[in-house]
Amino acid sequence: MSTHRIATRMERIVPFYVMDLLARAKQLEAQGRSVIHMEVGEPDFVTPEPVIEAGKNALTAGHTGYTAATGIPELRQAISDHYGRLFSLAIDPARIIVTPGSSGALQLVMSVLIDPGQQVLMTDPGYPCNKNFVELVSGVPVGLPVGPEMNYQLSSSQIEDNWSDNTRAVMVATPSNPTGTLVERDEMVRIHETVKARGGQLIVDEIYQGLVYGMSGYSALELADDIFVINSFSKYFGMTGWRLGWVVAPEPYVESLDTLAQNLFLSCASMSQYAALQAFSPQCLEVLEQRRQEFERRRDFLLPALQEIGFEVPVKPQGAFYLYANSSKLTSDSFSFAYDLLEAQGVAITPGKDFGIHRPEQHVRFAYTNSIENMAEGVRRIKEFLAR
Ligand SMILES: Cc1ncc(COP(=O)(O)O)c(C=O)c1O
Repeated sequence: MSTHRIATRMERIVPFYVMDLLARAKQLEAQGRSVIHMEVGEPDFVTPEPVIEAGKNALTAGHTGYTAATGIPELRQAISDHYGRLFSLAIDPARIIVTPGSSGALQLVMSVLIDPGQQVLMTDPGYPCNKNFVELVSGVPVGLPVGPEMNYQLSSSQIEDNWSDNTRAVMVATPSNPTGTLVERDEMVRIHETVKARGGQLIVDEIYQGLVYGMSGYSALELADDIFVINSFSKYFGMTGWRLGWVVAPEPYVESLDTLAQNLFLSCASMSQYAALQAFSPQCLEVLEQRRQEFERRRDFLLPALQEIGFEVPVKPQGAFYLYANSSKLTSDSFSFAYDLLEAQGVAITPGKDFGIHRPEQHVRFAYTNSIENMAEGVRRIKEFLAR
């Protein structure tokens, strides 16, 4: 009998299809083909110079060891000051736990909240890893179908209708991946009240905070101090590879999160933490604002360009860098559409299948993490593909 027995939970953890697609795209590129990338969920800009410089200096200064599991005090303070600057909030740095990406934060939060068999409600479509974080702690992820009529976001009434004795938490992301839509502030207030009234826990993923267009954003931290708020240096700050994020936790959970962080991670990379101190410097914030404006220009280019060739985007996304497009006028199977498009024309996009089971075959996600020039070429190639 084989001794190689993979735990049964792995049967419920599905691959991230876009990674397969990305691997194929790289293969094609290695063969000399040109590929236009609109599948990757990371900014195409490198980390701003002040952060890179600070990272180098951190190494020179010998910041190469473990730090406190919750992060260096200077960074927790800097994150607190950031909330002060943005939203006039005074967040106790003791509630801020620095983590290896927001992925680390999500693992910590699910671990301290969810007992085996307890449910976490979330959107479908939604960020694919969320359900796996719940699976990892033997919880039950429950994807609730959301469509354009509700901004692709959960509503308080939907949460009410789907609440059960086993429901422990609700997770929302604003702006969202893959749809780029926001939860309106009034709705977030209602969602919070609904969850609280049932003794549940609200978790808000604000990892795309700062990447909001044509309106001003808010933080769920403005509403109450009993919400878990997740954030990251990955997207807005352009630091995906530095693996640094954070969670602002309700005070009663801080000790457990600290204990778990000590065990799971020991600490985040010290170089990254010292570098991130510069992410809030005026020079860096200026660069980030220019990039935000560039993302907005890209959205304003790509949205009508896709609509013109037959994709439907019924809700204008106001954040992140994604367009979740209905492709049902062009194909009945978005999965093979994405693969065929890559093979035939060298354009990489993400099939809806990565984001859930609610009408995935009718959708694809475009990431506008590429220049307008390249995206224009991508759109031209898609048009050619559709005219075959
Ligand atoms: C909604 C959402 N949450 C969390 C993450 C995880 O990012 P990171 O671990 O780099 O902070 C991502 C990454 O794409 C995301 O889109």
